[in-house]
Amino acid sequence: MIKKGNLYYPTKEFKEKAWVKNKAVYKNAQRDPKRFWADLAEELVWFKKWKKIFEHKPPYFKWFLGGKINITYNIFERNLAERKNKIALIWEPEPLEERPRILSYYDLYREVNRFANGLKKLGVKKGDRVGIYLPMIPEVIISMLACARIGAVHSVVFSAFSPQALRIRLQDTEAKILITADGYWRRGKVIPLKQNADKGIENTKVKKVIVVQRMGNKIPFKKGRDIWWEDVVKEQPDYCKPAIMDSEDILFILYTSGSTGKPKGCVHVCGGYSVQALWTGKLIFDWKDNDIFWSTSDMGWITGHTYSCYSPLLNGVTFVIFEGAPDWPKPDRWAQIIDKYGVTVFYTAPTAIRMFAKYGKEVLKGHKFETLRLLGSVGEPIDESAWQWYFKEIGKSRCPVVDTWWQTETGGILITSLPGIGPFRPAYTGLPFPGTRFEILDDKGKPTKPGQEGALVLLPPFVPSLLRRIYKNPKKYLNTYWSEYGKKIYFTSDAALRDKNGLIRIVGRLDDVIKIAGHRITTGELEAAINLHPSIAECAVVGIPDKIKGQVPVVFVILKKKIKNLKEVVVGQVLKEIGPIALPKEVYEVESLPKTRSGKIMRRILRRLFTGEELGDLSTLANPESVREIKKIIKIQKK
Ligand code: WT7
Repeated sequence: MIKKGNLYYPTKEFKEKAWVKNKAVYKNAQRDPKRFWADLAEELVWFKKWKKIFEHKPPYFKWFLGGKINITYNIFERNLAERKNKIALIWEPEPLEERPRILSYYDLYREVNRFANGLKKLGVKKGDRVGIYLPMIPEVIISMLACARIGAVHSVVFSAFSPQALRIRLQDTEAKILITADGYWRRGKVIPLKQNADKGIENTKVKKVIVVQRMGNKIPFKKGRDIWWEDVVKEQPDYCKPAIMDSEDILFILYTSGSTGKPKGCVHVCGGYSVQALWTGKLIFDWKDNDIFWSTSDMGWITGHTYSCYSPLLNGVTFVIFEGAPDWPKPDRWAQIIDKYGVTVFYTAPTAIRMFAKYGKEVLKGHKFETLRLLGSVGEPIDESAWQWYFKEIGKSRCPVVDTWWQTETGGILITSLPGIGPFRPAYTGLPFPGTRFEILDDKGKPTKPGQEGALVLLPPFVPSLLRRIYKNPKKYLNTYWSEYGKKIYFTSDAALRDKNGLIRIVGRLDDVIKIAGHRITTGELEAAINLHPSIAECAVVGIPDKIKGQVPVVFVILKKKIKNLKEVVVGQVLKEIGPIALPKEVYEVESLPKTRSGKIMRRILRRLFTGEELGDLSTLANPESVREIKKIIKIQKK
């Protein structure tokens, strides 16, 4: 890349080959965003074209009204003529000695159709919800696409989530079918997924459990309820007619942390999501026919859904999915995978980048990264030093780094500079994607000046892939996204600022979401999980900065009954209720928590007590003695 002041630009060679090289695209899109998206939507095959592009009945909105579509028809039938035997998917298992599985577009097409027919035979109908609790194996993608083929709504649950976390989600969707596996590899250990699934479906409506044989180990198997994947697809025909879906029919529900204990089911729909998935991948990752794309996200997150499934497939791109941990069995496993498949575009999270950097130069020895041409980052702010390391050590100062901002709610990337245009500035995520209207507002709802921090909001007509609702919870939808600045402005819950070039920097969340290694969790959800312990009276969780993970939780608990190994117990409680993604770093036993007069816990004070910052305004604090006590306790325990 070319450096000018604190900005970076793509080289002439990169620019010439890029899909978008002319800045005019921004102006054109801005003039009429609805027209812009409608033009992009034309690229897809619609069984019936939409009658109206956009309709707004705040806080609800629709895109491509009256349009009929099926995303799998656009992945397969639309692509097969040119790419029948092109590789779609490369699956890298965790064990080094195991052979990868490689599926062409035609292979995947047949697998999806057969499984779709199998689901139908089990009674799955259009609109039915199907739970998917699978590791990163090809069947996770086949399952999602088979659901989409017949118009069933998939709801993928991260395979490292605990049985309890699975149960809450299954109860909310009322899924009658769950697809899972007999286990998977994680850091050389077998994870007993089927056992977890069995626990998770207790007290749900699940009647059938489809089990993929990944390990071939012995697992509990309940006759009449459990059925092997092989038996579901056996003798099923290679073709299943795609369901005719309305643009606004649900494609999938994906849960994200809610402010209370209960996660929110983000509803994404068939039409708008397809348009966004097709185009953001193509223009942001600048995919060409010979690219090999690897996004390290698990399918349990939105990044997995959009960029390890729908977006590359819609674009006919070859991509890699990986079962294991990027630093196992050796710290350079991720680099080996890049070498092994000649990955050209690599997409990962700042946490992973900081971890790779921490392993030191040793890890990079023997890896030249010559195949790479573009790098991406997602999920949390990338600090300048991690950005520089990624850019220099992996990208060899040659590859543009697209820092991509988006959310489970937005379905696709909305802020990032385009690789053929730039500019790129470390720690700044970049420019809004063409056709999106962002604003940064102050407390009074007025646009801020460059350099001034405010709330990041999205203005009408929003984007085709923005969530339509929270499943079965209209109140939460209204309160979370459409209340801060009124029903016509989507509130992202992020604080941001803009530089004089219009590049956006994400400062952090304005709500109680913390991002642990890029994973999103609310302090409220963690607190609800910890409070379930019978000896715990009350607790408060705060996110504190961490060099590798970005943020980590620290817990303050008030006990009802003495607990011996307090930290172990609290960690165990989080493992049981949620899973290993959000394990507390420190646990403190306290007598009371700092609260306002109305009884709200002042988490800001707890956070600052821990980090040793100035406490700031204490005028609303009702119990100053609590602050003095906690200060002492932290001091003692830190020694
Ligand atoms: C939140 C959404 C969508 C991909 C995975 C995360 C933070 C996301 C960035 C970025 C700074 C970022 C925001 C956002 N975030 N990308 N490039 N720079 N912050 O999805 O779990 O729904 O979390 O992640 O705070 O609101 P998610």
